[in-house]
Amino acid sequence: MTLNNANSVTTKAIIPVAGLGTRFLPVTRSVPKALLPVLGIPLVQHAVNDAVEAGITDIAIVEDARSVGSYFHSMPDLEGRLRQTGRDELADQMVEISSQARITSIKQLEPLGNGHAILLAKNFVDDEPFVVIFPDEILWGEYSSTAQILDVRDRYGGNVIAVTETSWDDVHTKGIVAGPSVEPNVIAIEQMVEKPPRDEAPSNLAIIGRYALDPAVFEHLERMERGAGGEIWLTDAIIACMGQYPTHAVTVDAIRYDAGVPEGMFGATLHQAAKDPTMRQMIVDFAAEL
Ligand code: UTP
Repeated sequence: MTLNNANSVTTKAIIPVAGLGTRFLPVTRSVPKALLPVLGIPLVQHAVNDAVEAGITDIAIVEDARSVGSYFHSMPDLEGRLRQTGRDELADQMVEISSQARITSIKQLEPLGNGHAILLAKNFVDDEPFVVIFPDEILWGEYSSTAQILDVRDRYGGNVIAVTETSWDDVHTKGIVAGPSVEPNVIAIEQMVEKPPRDEAPSNLAIIGRYALDPAVFEHLERMERGAGGEIWLTDAIIACMGQYPTHAVTVDAIRYDAGVPEGMFGATLHQAAKDPTMRQMIVDFAAEL
């Protein structure tokens, strides 16, 4: 497979980070989940990397009162000090972080749901197709998962969602989709259900935090009543669009870690640590001791 999204019409992404992060308490009392690191690189940086690799140039971060977007601000004092002390490579990395994409911060001061967070970015999207990335889903593969869904969106239009096969024991905790296959790893979604009991689940294809969307989604988000838990959910708006627009799911080719929970973050950390010879040896020695 080759993926070249340089010509994709989609150049905007929304990264919502204003949720309460309750599955990561107590640290999320003061640190937003999106700033928790996998070996020094915060989750939001992984999400931005995924977007930039797919040709995205403009990113809105929807944050609560605490700033996540400031992580991407230029830091000339820090860069200057690093250069003065001969650490040019690190200084270059700092410049790269603040120049990868244009970052806009949007405030969601009450956590009224991921759909509500997306709705707040309506003016930013300005009637163009866009992508949504949940930074607590880490997807690492040869090609960015955002690029993989944009490839399908550019050919079929409408809305496209990234999915992965999940354990049948977990389907009751996930959004699940089902429908006929239209090409390898792509289905036309006919059913989309939130957290179905195992015996009612139409498949084990779970939604995993990457969406390529048509701006028509906003019409539905604006009309949405608050759903489960008093929140506005993005999936409800996508379901509402299904009769009008093509809706596809792509089983993305990527290793996935649910970094919204400590064990997923630990898995992602081990994954990265194993690439470094010293840390890899530490893992091997520790496993032998166990
Ligand atoms: P989650 O469903 O993972 O919720 O949100 P959460 O609040 O982060 O975590 P838990 O379930 O309490 O542990 C998916 C994404 O949507 C954002 C979250 O920050 C996360 O990136 N979100 C959720 C918002 O931006 N606003 C909301 O009102 C809800």
